[in-house]
Amino acid sequence: MEEVQKKRMLSGIQPSGDLHLGNYLGAIKNWADRVNDYECFYFMADLHTITVRQDPSELRKRSVNQLAQYIACGLDPEKNVLFLQSHVPAHSQLAWVLNCYTMFGELSRMTQFKDKSAKYSNNINAGLFTYPVLMAADILLYQPDYVPVGEDQKQHVEICRDIAIRFNSIYGDVFKVPEPLIAKTGARIYGLTTPGDKMSKSVPDGCVFLMDSPDDIRRKFKRAVTDSDRENCVRYDKEAKPGVANLMNIYSTLTGKTMTEIESEFAGQGYGVFKPAVGDAVVEALRPIREEAERLMKDKAYLDEVYRKGAEKASYVAGKTLRKVYKKVGFYQI
Ligand code: TYM
Repeated sequence: MEEVQKKRMLSGIQPSGDLHLGNYLGAIKNWADRVNDYECFYFMADLHTITVRQDPSELRKRSVNQLAQYIACGLDPEKNVLFLQSHVPAHSQLAWVLNCYTMFGELSRMTQFKDKSAKYSNNINAGLFTYPVLMAADILLYQPDYVPVGEDQKQHVEICRDIAIRFNSIYGDVFKVPEPLIAKTGARIYGLTTPGDKMSKSVPDGCVFLMDSPDDIRRKFKRAVTDSDRENCVRYDKEAKPGVANLMNIYSTLTGKTMTEIESEFAGQGYGVFKPAVGDAVVEALRPIREEAERLMKDKAYLDEVYRKGAEKASYVAGKTLRKVYKKVGFYQI
């Protein structure tokens, strides 16, 4: 019987900080669930991180620790291609070509560029501006059908589609035009202390890291901001009670319970019961991940080997697309 070609999926995370619950629920958890149905490529986007100054030794350490955490989250390196972006030169090579097919105006409209140039106003470098072009190259090299990301990356996948469509309209069907894949729950996890902003490593008190100890996680949930209406009742109302809605979203994503089921589970009990219950659910979900990641982090030879094999497989696929692009735009081949 003829084997059906699996659809392809690709995504990445910057090793610019330790992985957190937003990365896990918005991205990695969904990746791990799909391995049997898709051909999957996942990478650590280290080239992207230097748009903001990094401590070189920390970056090196995080790049390998993040691989351990990917695997601990259930991404089996035998079934997924796991690699480090800087190990595959085709990313930078295609990015240059795509830079010449991306308009200044469209890059100026990117929300992340506006946010980051406000935040890092002393270092608004060209890489920060052309970041979405490198991201388009990351994606298009592998001809994926889907790009599973959290909501904040949707705009970048959209500009990638625009670039692909523009390039294809000039040169024929070179790139597959991918779809963003955004989870129904977990796609936007907010900070525990700042429920108006997405969870991010830049506010560590409100950010739960995958490697946090159970005590730290419980403490962070106990201190989570709920709401100011003093209702003390677990009810899903994103507008009036964003803090509670965020905790319910986290609980729902981890337990599979609906908002109505969560409301009945905690009916008549206040936040004093609810917040620790969410904390406990997170502790139990992250415990096996932390323990396995700690074990893997000690086995550097194994992690290096995974990276070596991943780079080989990724380079093979990426190389094919790059050669096609070089030919189409008119670079002389020997
Ligand atoms: P990054 O590294 O900021 O985040 C990695 C993934 O985690 C998701 N995410 C969240 N989801 C829910 N709630 C949150 N609070 C939260 N914070 C982060 C992000 O949406 C993302 O899916 N530019 C990308 C990395 C990248 C990439 C790519 C992704 C580079 N090239 C190609 C996909 C395809 C980034 O900075 O994500």
